Amino acid sequence: MTKAAKSWQSRMAQAQDQLAIDFVESISIDHRLYKYDIVGSIAHAQMLSEQYLITKTDFQQIKKGLNEIAQKIESGKFKFDKSCEDIHMVIEAALIKLIGEPAKKLHTGRSRNDQVALDMRLWMRDKIADLDDLLADLQRAFVTQAQKQGQIVMPSYTHLQRAQPILSGNYLLAFVEQFQRDRDRLQDALKRVNVCPLGAGAVAGSSLPLDRQRVAEILGFPAITRNSIDTIADRDFCVEFLFACATVAMHLSRFAEDWIIYCSQEFSFIRIADAFCTGSSMMPQKRNPDMCELIRGKTGQLYGNLIALMTMVKGQPLTYNRDMQEDKKQLFDAADTIEASITMATAIVAHTTFNAEKIQANLDAGFLDATALAEYLVNKGIPFRQAHQIVGKLVSQAETQNLSLAQLTLTELQQACDKIQPDVAQYLTAANVTKNYATAGAAGREQLNEQLKCWKKSLA
Ligand code: ARG
Repeated sequence: MTKAAKSWQSRMAQAQDQLAIDFVESISIDHRLYKYDIVGSIAHAQMLSEQYLITKTDFQQIKKGLNEIAQKIESGKFKFDKSCEDIHMVIEAALIKLIGEPAKKLHTGRSRNDQVALDMRLWMRDKIADLDDLLADLQRAFVTQAQKQGQIVMPSYTHLQRAQPILSGNYLLAFVEQFQRDRDRLQDALKRVNVCPLGAGAVAGSSLPLDRQRVAEILGFPAITRNSIDTIADRDFCVEFLFACATVAMHLSRFAEDWIIYCSQEFSFIRIADAFCTGSSMMPQKRNPDMCELIRGKTGQLYGNLIALMTMVKGQPLTYNRDMQEDKKQLFDAADTIEASITMATAIVAHTTFNAEKIQANLDAGFLDATALAEYLVNKGIPFRQAHQIVGKLVSQAETQNLSLAQLTLTELQQACDKIQPDVAQYLTAANVTKNYATAGAAGREQLNEQLKCWKKSLA
């Protein structure tokens, strides 16, 4: 490379070694930030001109030049020069080449340290909006299925053992809650992302009369950071973003795990459409849930992104260190991966049918109505601990005869407890139990309708 290609070159007696050029460059990764770098530079230049640090004409030329560069990048005709290190230096060098003198004033009162913090915050603001849209789509897919296939009585599980009966709709809406918390978490993180760092300079700010509030206003930030030293050292917003993404991945992974189990021959609760399954190269009969497995598998990568970043930050003396350049690898990787997984999950949810008959056929197994029977006894005045024991014995008795609780005779039931009346029939069987759920948020029909109403409104 030519000795003067880098803006800081004049201080060095030697040109940079090619090995070092290749090692230090980040343009191969941070070229994705070009839009934000340009928008940030235009805002900075506008402020500089309003503060009479550059002329109006300088600003107009800088703006025009930067927009031209943006267009060139978008059309794919721009060559990102590795010897210019990163997106900030690449664009500045291109601008100098394009418009000459005025471009040399653009970096007034600015460092790449506050510039990169700005670019990342702008990128993340957009990314959070994208993720919010994708997560809302996913929620809508679950809600649509809860409306279409939500009335099936099915078992719930604790310890992967049959627990209490629920409606498929309540089950589906459980995921909607998880993804709502993820959306809320991202919105909360946004509060700390959405603060303008520009003007913090290299670390200590500047002696020039920069108007930081004005830059924030132009870029739509509701506030500016308070302390320049912290501003340059801070990567908390990146950590929070990665944690939010990792949590989305964790939720997606649990969903995927459920559906992998549910589409097995042994369960046969659901059928994922052929279009979202794969076959086997050897076993002709196979229909494998590979998409779900990949969603589950990619979760490890997202946890890795978070841990990599936290580890990268923890040993750094205040403030900026070049280690920080590595943050983008983790952030872009996490964003790309989670976007792909959410999109895939949305398609899977939309293209899955519940096997109502299969689920129904085996509903008598596992004593799903045992808790409801104990609560029936509570209503007849029996202390719950005693009711639990009575039903426990009945379950054991029915199990040895290979019967369900509803198949025991009234006499058999009354032998266990004389408080049992013929009305007990309305409280037994999984289907009856779902009709009797009374608590707010329970897995019954009424509660399902209430939740559906609320989601349809908030996701409209
Ligand atoms: N490419 C660098 C990064 O991503 C920009 C900041 C460089 N600052 C510096 N003082 N060398 O972190």
